[in-house]
Amino acid sequence: QYYKEPFRPQFHFSPEKKWMNDPNGLLYYKGIYHLFYQYYPEDIVWGPMHWGHATSTDLIHWQHKKMALFPDHLGYIFSGSAVMDVNNTSGLGTKENPPMIAIFTYHNMEFEKSGKINTQTQGLAYSLDEGTTWKKYEANPIINNTTFRDFRDPKVFWNEDAKIWNLVLVAGDRAQFYTSNNLLHWKLEGEFGQNNGAHGGVWECPDLFKLKIDGTQEEKWVLLVSINPGAPNGGSGIQYFIGDFDGKTFTTAQKEIKWVDYGTDNYAGVTYNDAPKNERVFLGWMSNWNYARNTPTTNWRSAMTLARTLSLSTINGDYVLQSKPVEPFKKQLTTDYSKEKIEIEKGNEKTFVYSKLNQSQIQFNAKNKNLKLIFTNEANDLLVLNYDAKKQIFEIDRRHSGKVNFEKSFGEKIHTTLTPNLGSKSLDFQIILDWSSIEIFLNQGVYTFTEQLFPNQPYTKLIIQSSENQEIKNIYFQSVKGIW
Ligand code: FRU
Repeated sequence: QYYKEPFRPQFHFSPEKKWMNDPNGLLYYKGIYHLFYQYYPEDIVWGPMHWGHATSTDLIHWQHKKMALFPDHLGYIFSGSAVMDVNNTSGLGTKENPPMIAIFTYHNMEFEKSGKINTQTQGLAYSLDEGTTWKKYEANPIINNTTFRDFRDPKVFWNEDAKIWNLVLVAGDRAQFYTSNNLLHWKLEGEFGQNNGAHGGVWECPDLFKLKIDGTQEEKWVLLVSINPGAPNGGSGIQYFIGDFDGKTFTTAQKEIKWVDYGTDNYAGVTYNDAPKNERVFLGWMSNWNYARNTPTTNWRSAMTLARTLSLSTINGDYVLQSKPVEPFKKQLTTDYSKEKIEIEKGNEKTFVYSKLNQSQIQFNAKNKNLKLIFTNEANDLLVLNYDAKKQIFEIDRRHSGKVNFEKSFGEKIHTTLTPNLGSKSLDFQIILDWSSIEIFLNQGVYTFTEQLFPNQPYTKLIIQSSENQEIKNIYFQSVKGIW
């Protein structure tokens, strides 16, 4: 009887009830992926922040756990991260039973109300039972602040090159990098960003990690920085920088602004510490501060993106961060229809009626020519995806996709993205729908688009059109098993 409400995702993580925002403390330890998250247990709008907790062994199926962190006299518990202190460098556990450490932002409401600037500091909590129960560190805050109004979202990680703990946080319009030997005392080493990237809003939720460039031995560091507002299609978005990091500061030759996702609903995304085989697993909050509080769900609000594996490649001489659903997602799929080749003559269309469209994955390959995809239903809702080959533009039109009037910016505009890195290759589409979301991975996630949708009735029909002679190859309609 659970999780059957209208719009409830069936294979994305969402809280049992009430408000959720950012993923926090993503950490893998002893076969378990921990997911903590910004949570307000009293309402379906944002409020005094706690850390909720869930675990998974495959990044697909999730188990809800007891609340991990509660607000205290130092403030609400904002976003942050977690590590296993395996060598007990902090001394908060023992060698035999090392502590799990969470470092997060305290937001002091009293200070905010009285107009003080130092409302945000960084605090630490530890767990000696693998994340089940938590104690706040007695000498909190561990990083104080007298300068910045916005000073938050610490990401801590072990830097194997420099053999030191690193921490990156955001301070208004820049990222700051810190080092420590014991996770308790931190030294500011460097800053990045005042003259780089997008600055249409405050920087939030940074992440920093190293990736190998596909097919080479070369390694580069990736810095993720969420920004709100200032995303290309309005409101919240995640930009990224590719460069170098020496344990103290980040440098890059990158000139243009790059985005992890070109849809409207992937925010505050960060990656797992210590995932097996060096996999870089990403989770984002599938919403946008423009309308997060207004979406038409009843007893809970919002979900996470599918867990995605990140990789780096070089396309047209340019570094590109790619993302694709994690491998175990494939196990959820059942093929209901497939066909090797479908020709669509100029000006024609092909219609697929598929009753499970609202909980499905559609995959196919098309020529790099004009292509329009229309998702529709009995209520005549229309979600339109349009690719213009000449202009190299991809558009998402959700203006008539269902319920859109709950907030002005949701259904106002067509969302437009330039796609130069697709080059002359064919187009590979992987499209995943889950009752109130669509995730589109174009050419193995060279471009990714995530958007929320609230159709009046489930989508049941896909129409593929083209104004040129198109050829669709290896099309698959697959239903996705629910996880609850
Ligand atoms: C991002 C964010 C963070 C902050 C948290 C508060 O969505 O604004 O910067 O820590 O949400 O819930």
